[in-house]
Amino acid sequence: MISVNAGTKLLGILGYPLKHSYSPAMHNTSIEELGLNYLYVPIEVKDEDLRDLVKGIAAMKNFSGFNVTIPHKVNIMKYLDELDELAAAIGAVNTVTVREGRLKGYNTDGIGFLRSIEKEKGITVQGKKVFIIGSGGAAKGVAMTFAFEGAAEIAITNRTYEKAVELAENINRKVKKCSYAVSGKDAEEALSDADIVVNTTSVGMTPHIEETPLEAEFLHRGMLVCDIVYNPLKTRLLQDAEKRGCQTLNGLGMLIYQGAEAFKLWTGYEEPIMTMKNVLSALAG
Ligand code: ATR
Repeated sequence: MISVNAGTKLLGILGYPLKHSYSPAMHNTSIEELGLNYLYVPIEVKDEDLRDLVKGIAAMKNFSGFNVTIPHKVNIMKYLDELDELAAAIGAVNTVTVREGRLKGYNTDGIGFLRSIEKEKGITVQGKKVFIIGSGGAAKGVAMTFAFEGAAEIAITNRTYEKAVELAENINRKVKKCSYAVSGKDAEEALSDADIVVNTTSVGMTPHIEETPLEAEFLHRGMLVCDIVYNPLKTRLLQDAEKRGCQTLNGLGMLIYQGAEAFKLWTGYEEPIMTMKNVLSALAG
């Protein structure tokens, strides 16, 4: 059991609602295993109270940092003292460090995703052709980080095509010229030689588990097919990909490694990945 005393440092997650968040269980189990004097607490906060809450946290000498989740990932930025370069390019923050009353924002979603590909599949993104489905907050994190880390090409498709165009233009302007929006025949062509395919949309998530963002015919051997969805652990996209001989990766890894990257920023410690995996597998079923 974690024991709380005068020296306990606080970590937490800000969002609304939070009752489905796995982060408190994941981080507190790691804290206990590492024998650290930290406590990670869920803090439900609505938009109208976010400013006051952040001010309060900055005044707390025992607060080391926090995660930020839906719906505050963008709004939080205006209350921070400093932004990391990648978070600024993405335009969203999921991790904040608190040092002597100064708040600095980071985004570890994309880097977490990248680490999960590296550690679980032994695949690096340098020089790879990537195909991304979706253009929302998660897509921005993943796509910008891929560009930062040296992907050769990033093709983006989205239900609302204009948003894919906007994201590709943003990547080309802020990071490097490697991205373009695709649909129809262009998307088929990009898929024909893609090395890594990533679904960043909620298509296929429980309860709509029969849905898929990409028909099986476009998947081919030699591709790594990734889904950021982890509920269910094996989406229809990943089932189809397996049948077509692709390597697959579910969204649990992203959740684990984005958390581990944040934990390192707050505490300087490496989180025990196996423990985190066990906690999440039990919770995600
Ligand atoms: P998040 O922050 O989780 O990425 P978001 O910013 O709302 O959430 O983005 C959701 C993404 O999933 C978007 O790309 C969205 O497409 P639109 O831009 O057209 O809205 C995509 N998406 C969500 N539901 C979808 C569906 N049923 N079919 C196709 N795309 C879907």
